[in-house]
Amino acid sequence: MSDKETSDVSAPVDKHENHPSTRRNILVEGLTAILSFLLVAVPSTLGGIFFLDPILRRNKAGSAGGGELEGFIKLAITSDSVPEDGTPVAVTVQSDLDDAWNRFKDVPVGSIWLRKNPDGRILVFNSVCPHLGCSVDYRRNEGDFFCPCHTSSFDLDGQKTNEVPPRAMDTLELLTATNGAVSEGGQELWVKYQNFRRATAEKIVI
Ligand code: FES
Repeated sequence: MSDKETSDVSAPVDKHENHPSTRRNILVEGLTAILSFLLVAVPSTLGGIFFLDPILRRNKAGSAGGGELEGFIKLAITSDSVPEDGTPVAVTVQSDLDDAWNRFKDVPVGSIWLRKNPDGRILVFNSVCPHLGCSVDYRRNEGDFFCPCHTSSFDLDGQKTNEVPPRAMDTLELLTATNGAVSEGGQELWVKYQNFRRATAEKIVI
């Protein structure tokens, strides 16, 4: 076999490989692929942000006040309005709630009992009975808290006075503030409203 014949067999030449029109086609296909990706990716990303935005805003909105008051809800009662003689007063806790795209103002989220001690300190109890979740009432004549569902009773410090409830009434954290800033002796009352597991001796946040 001659040298010319050997060269022809071992190195076939693609006549189109370096043709200008082939390179142009590759370039066009590459650009088309990039544009297609952008056309799908950009709207999807923007849509995701749009979808998540209310959820993100809801998380921010849940932190009432921010700073030291983060997680606390301002009550529609002032410190001076809580009876000095220790009589409990019932207060509905209201908060702004967001669903995915709407904000609802002043939605009742629970109720509490406030009571002022002789030293001026205010005690706060969740009114949900720790037994099975009914609402605990104040009995003026008996001077105690009482749940009518299964007769749980508690003294005015929230301690249980019979064996029906598994634990004392659930206390809640309270802060006083002035113009939204925590201050000792401030008239604004801010509560950290929480619910707790029922029918357990332990106080467990749910
Ligand atoms: S739920 Fe209150 S006593 Fe049972």
